[in-house]
Amino acid sequence: MPYQSQLETTPLPATFQTPATVATDWRTGLPCLTGNLVNLREMRASDAPALFAALSSEQVSKFISPPPATVEGFGRFINWAIRQRQAGQYVCFAVVPHGTDTAVGIFQVRSLEPAFGTAEWGFALAPECWGTGIFVDGAKLVVDFAFEGLGVHRLEARAAIKNGRGNGALRKLGAVQEGVLRRSFLRNGEYLDQALWTILQDEWLQAKTVWGSRVIH
Ligand SMILES: CC(C)(COP(=O)(O)OP(=O)(O)OC[C@H]1O[C@@H](n2cnc3c(N)ncnc32)[C@H](O)[C@@H]1OP(=O)(O)O)[C@@H](O)C(=O)NCCC(=O)NCCS
Repeated sequence: MPYQSQLETTPLPATFQTPATVATDWRTGLPCLTGNLVNLREMRASDAPALFAALSSEQVSKFISPPPATVEGFGRFINWAIRQRQAGQYVCFAVVPHGTDTAVGIFQVRSLEPAFGTAEWGFALAPECWGTGIFVDGAKLVVDFAFEGLGVHRLEARAAIKNGRGNGALRKLGAVQEGVLRRSFLRNGEYLDQALWTILQDEWLQAKTVWGSRVIH
């Protein structure tokens, strides 16, 4: 995916030289972000069964913190996410393909400092969505929202080195691998090495020369 090379070769159009502000107070509710394939919207209590079905398989959870083990657990997670968003510490979007109202995954961003200057993001999709383009479509929206809406300047992601798809997805999005966090993640009784990937706000604005996003309130 050409975000990285675009950075080196493409002059910045005037329309992208300053970040547009996403006109929403996200602490009172997340905007609905519309891509080519999906909408990203706030999770609802009614998403719990769909998210449980989408994210509870071993295939999805192998290299990430274990998701809730029951539908009720997802319900508690959704309530927690909304409280964290109200507290200004965390946001989590449900991924909803166009033409449906069924959540097939999540994108989450949490602040690593009091006001979201540096943040960490994560994502998971139902296996049937892998390789469909949904990841990149949703990722563009949520990274854009992080920089323009939350005021992030540095967005970090951690991916277990063994997680081929997770690392491949971040690489093709244009994230930069800054290093390896040795034995930093305990999963199934084993300490795994993780790659630290980052996207900086100014780099992302340049990568945006090849795409755009809309915000619906
Ligand atoms: C991470 C996730 C959201 C990415 O979505 P996806 O649809 O699988 O991602 P994509 O197919 O768009 O991109 C993955 C890329 O990695 C590549 N890839 C797949 N296996 C790979 C491997 N073993 N090594 C390196 N790259 C690999 C794919 O070919 C693809 O690149 P391409 O489109 O250029 O061919 C999804 O795989 C997922 O939900 N995984 C489980 C949860 C998870 O691991 N989350 C990430 C934590 S960092």
